[in-house]
Amino acid sequence: MSEENRMQKIISLAKRRGFIYQGSEIYGGLAGTWDYGPLGIALKRNITNLWWKRFVDDRSDMYGVDAAILMNSKVWEASGHVDGFADPLVEDTKTKKRYRADHLLEDEGIDAAGMTPEEMNAAIAENDIQSPDGNPLGEVQQFNMMFKTNIGAVEDSSSVSYLRPETAQGMFVNFKNIIDSFHPKLPFGIAQIGKAFRNEITPRDFLFRTREFEQMEIEYFIHPDEWEKHFDEWQRELREWNAFIGLDEERIIERVIPEGEGAHYALKTIDFEFKYSFGQKELFGLAYRTDYDLKKHHDGSGESLEYFDQQSGDRFIPHVIEPSLGVDRTILALLESVYSEEEVDGDTRTVLKFKPHVAPVMVAVLPLLRKDGLPEKAQEVFEGLRDVFVCQYDETASIGKRYRRQDEIGTPFCITIDHDTLEDDTVTIRDRDSMEQDRVPVKELESYIQERIS
Ligand code: GAP
Repeated sequence: MSEENRMQKIISLAKRRGFIYQGSEIYGGLAGTWDYGPLGIALKRNITNLWWKRFVDDRSDMYGVDAAILMNSKVWEASGHVDGFADPLVEDTKTKKRYRADHLLEDEGIDAAGMTPEEMNAAIAENDIQSPDGNPLGEVQQFNMMFKTNIGAVEDSSSVSYLRPETAQGMFVNFKNIIDSFHPKLPFGIAQIGKAFRNEITPRDFLFRTREFEQMEIEYFIHPDEWEKHFDEWQRELREWNAFIGLDEERIIERVIPEGEGAHYALKTIDFEFKYSFGQKELFGLAYRTDYDLKKHHDGSGESLEYFDQQSGDRFIPHVIEPSLGVDRTILALLESVYSEEEVDGDTRTVLKFKPHVAPVMVAVLPLLRKDGLPEKAQEVFEGLRDVFVCQYDETASIGKRYRRQDEIGTPFCITIDHDTLEDDTVTIRDRDSMEQDRVPVKELESYIQERIS
């Protein structure tokens, strides 16, 4: 199967089985937006809940927040986003279609990372690069990616606000609140999961580059002398997270971003890249943001964002290590990691091999036939398990077809109720990956499943 074909198969499975749909589909869609269906949101919630439990609830040095998406525009002026959060845009002079200049250069094998617009113009001219439609290109300009809006009824410069392009600033502006409410000692972190918006010039590759997406971010505040130690710790934490949720580790590459290529605020960045079907690209990032942001807000707001170290008597602005993960890219990398096709008895079996704690449905309960009292017994088993596991009940089609359907959505366990169940209160339970079946008493089902998922 070609890589392109594989991506198409994943997109079509995601739609067919209710994971992810095109945004506003019945109106022809809206570029760069995707809607999560019932199984997609179940998968996404599992990922975000696992992240929150691991990095917030299970730690005593972490404080969760949920800041407003709309923020005072001074936040974005101070952070540098109003002036600097831009991508290089270039226009096809005939069709007026717009492209990312760095992408067009990269498509021609030219590394455009860190190039200024002037350098890109020169590279386009030197290499006689045309638009994908074969037309001449205009001048490269910087295009600010923030979505602008107006707050209230008056549309003037004083009412301008932006949809946040990263959740991070919501944490920096709450630094003082957390200090005042909880008096934490360094090191400590603020964590947030929420939507971010970027007016991407060319959204593409399914969930990879969208205009509305979700981030799971941590700002971990430290003493500057200890940044390397904490950076290494977070690198290890992120590796463990990848394994924990079942990403294919062989497809993850950690790339240290060379100086001059990374974000303006970061002194060191490691991108965790993933070998997607459409190429090796960023999954998430780990950055040492220094005291850049707190300092900007300290100066911009006039409020002191210094930390007072009672032991040493020092007063300083803490530095920060930032693990910044995209939820949607995680979902995409996960779908790529678990999608598999196998030959079974001359047929192709499509399986999503999710780890059980990530799977959107944990258990399917299936009566063998739709008669002889089997559906009633199956409903009873279903009701007994649904408080503990996410369960699905299905009595349509042949049992073989129902197994295949559950394989396609990645359900780890299928329980079948047959005539013997009515006699001895046992059921068959089928393992998704080995397809082996065990006979288990109904009263032992919960412990049987718990044992295999812990
Ligand atoms: N606070 C730092 C920050 O926002 P970033 O590298 O611009 O850094 C962090 O974004 C992560 O957010 C990315 O690694 C990616 O997972 C996700 N992300 C960024 N832009 C995205 C987009 N247009 N579509 C989907 N995910 C995106």
